[in-house]
Amino acid sequence: MATSAVRQARWQRFWDRHARDYDRQMGFLDRRLFRDTREWICAQAGGRTLEVAVGTGLNLVHYPRDVNLTGIEFSPAMLALARRRSAALDRPVMLRIGNAESLAFPDESFDTVVCTFSLCAIPDHRRAVTEMARVLRPGGLLLLADHVASTRWAVRAMQWALELVTVPWGGEHFRRRPLELVTAAGMGVEKHDRFAAGVVERLAARKPLS
Ligand SMILES: C[S@@+](CC[C@H](N)C(=O)[O-])C[C@H]1O[C@@H](n2cnc3c(N)ncnc32)[C@H](O)[C@@H]1O
Repeated sequence: MATSAVRQARWQRFWDRHARDYDRQMGFLDRRLFRDTREWICAQAGGRTLEVAVGTGLNLVHYPRDVNLTGIEFSPAMLALARRRSAALDRPVMLRIGNAESLAFPDESFDTVVCTFSLCAIPDHRRAVTEMARVLRPGGLLLLADHVASTRWAVRAMQWALELVTVPWGGEHFRRRPLELVTAAGMGVEKHDRFAAGVVERLAARKPLS
């Protein structure tokens, strides 16, 4: 079942409130934990590309110049910062308000779909992955990166404890595993990388031709 409008509005307000500090906080994690993940993901994008939950647009600088980019995001404050960044970079992007759980695009309309560090926060992440697969053309590429359940039990135990606070407070999950949803959706994983005690996972998966 889709996330209720009341819950959606609550998380939108959460991200609106955190937009101003987002780049500073995420910059720290990018440097310390996520390594070159943004470059790794964006370098593989090509053609008509949709970035789901684009946030403040931290990936924009990393896309090849010839990528035809669209980004959706449900927090107006995050999206405003992404618009500002796109202008500062002179990087044209079609940026609009949208919901990852119900993408307002026809079936098979993108060559590439990207989502970084957002499936941990999207309330119904299963639905979001289903939507990403729907809008991807057959043979198109899904590029995902996120923090996931660690391969070490002690770290997983800490993640479980963290979630007791972060899920009710900010809708932030630490033990999700998008890879499982991607393979269950019948997509073929072509590249896969996991590091930092298995906490960071990034992948490229192709939608079958038929
Ligand atoms: C941790 S931030 C990641 C932002 C960006 N993708 C990045 O890599 O920096 C999570 C983002 O997901 C967005 N988000 C959460 N649920 C969403 C939904 N259902 N539809 C669209 N955006 C959503 C939030 O507003 C927030 O901007």
